[in-house]
Amino acid sequence: MAETATWQWHVVMPLDDLWEGEMEAVEVDGRSVLLVNHEGEVYAYKNRCPHQEWPLHDGDLDEKELTCANHLWVFDVTTGKGVNPSNCALIGYQCTVDDDGNILVGLA
Ligand code: FES
Repeated sequence: MAETATWQWHVVMPLDDLWEGEMEAVEVDGRSVLLVNHEGEVYAYKNRCPHQEWPLHDGDLDEKELTCANHLWVFDVTTGKGVNPSNCALIGYQCTVDDDGNILVGLA
């Protein structure tokens, strides 16, 4: 039987406040969430590196590659998958932009 995903949407911020090529840490329902705008698409991830929980917003964003500031692991922000090393991944959240131009994050 397929699992039914249940999450609640939270309005986080206007898309106009997160420019293309930018990332920003926001608190959503008590959780630190990293928002990334890559070429107009917004992605949301748990703001902790899967290696040793370092805050990802301290890292460096270059095109679609996010490099953790602590030990320089690299992630693809469009997929959340590890680039180097490749056997890891960010924890992703549901994310969308509503008709009013607000970024919404869905948390379970
Ligand atoms: Fe991010 Fe080690 S904590 S690479």
